[in-house]
Amino acid sequence: MGRVSGKVVLVTGGGSGIGRATAVLLASEGAKVVVTDINRNGGLETVQRIGGQASFIEQDTSSEVDWKRVIAEVVGRHGGLHGLVNNAGILGKYPSRFEDETLEEWRRILSVNVEGVFLGCKHGVPAVRDSGGGSIVNLSSLAALVGTPDLSSYGATKGAVRQFTKTVAIDCARRRYKVRCNSVHPGVIATPMGDVLTTDQARQRIIDRIPIGELGQPEDIANGILFLISEESRYITGSELVIDGGMHAI
Ligand SMILES: NC(=O)c1ccc[n+]([C@@H]2O[C@H](COP(=O)([O-])OP(=O)(O)OC[C@H]3O[C@@H](n4cnc5c(N)ncnc54)[C@H](O)[C@@H]3O)[C@@H](O)[C@H]2O)c1
Repeated sequence: MGRVSGKVVLVTGGGSGIGRATAVLLASEGAKVVVTDINRNGGLETVQRIGGQASFIEQDTSSEVDWKRVIAEVVGRHGGLHGLVNNAGILGKYPSRFEDETLEEWRRILSVNVEGVFLGCKHGVPAVRDSGGGSIVNLSSLAALVGTPDLSSYGATKGAVRQFTKTVAIDCARRRYKVRCNSVHPGVIATPMGDVLTTDQARQRIIDRIPIGELGQPEDIANGILFLISEESRYITGSELVIDGGMHAI
């Protein structure tokens, strides 16, 4: 019996990095995983790696039309939804100081990182509630907890996700929806997004700032997400799980 056996879990941005590792781990613990992504090939590759229990739906998480279609399709196909991992996100241009940032770029990053999570909760929570309850996990970042002068828009979006997660958690708890909502805050993780931050010149300088002394792996984040999706975390809502090799503790 797996730790999330029988649960239907939707993972956005599951075609790469943390989303892919999460989808693979959840499936290995018994979940029926639905992977979504704007990157069709990446999403299909994740599903192929899992085999059997997983499926792919193309989705742009910044589109409300897409969210309505995806949730209806998942509930129609599987009879319910018990977990949602709002993982899809973009970094934007790096480095980007706020004085040099264009309004267009600011809005582009917000549309995926903030509006995508808002829409996921807006349309995902009723489906989870109506399926008997479950868990929403929103991917925030260490960038939500500290100033990010080289990632001005990105840091702001992750701060918004952190705060909004608590709002959803409290609202759902007070309404007795049986829907929990928590944020996860990775440090620097070895994924295509993390690679942008850890170019050859910057890599050792970043590693030197990580108390544990190495970059995180996507599986390190997936393990935290699995815990939050499973019933092992049944009393945890509105909380933030920092997985950063100790960076935020110094
Ligand atoms: N890698 C890190 O160091 C790190 C650190 C902190 C937080 N995070 C967060 O973790 C999450 C996953 O990051 P990752 O490192 O795996 O990144 P990644 O770039 O490897 O993967 C992100 C996935 O999201 C998809 N995506 C992007 N925009 C989308 C959209 N509009 N609709 C649907 N899919 C979309 C991409 O196609 C890609 O497959 C992100 O929210 C990111 O901000 C990552």
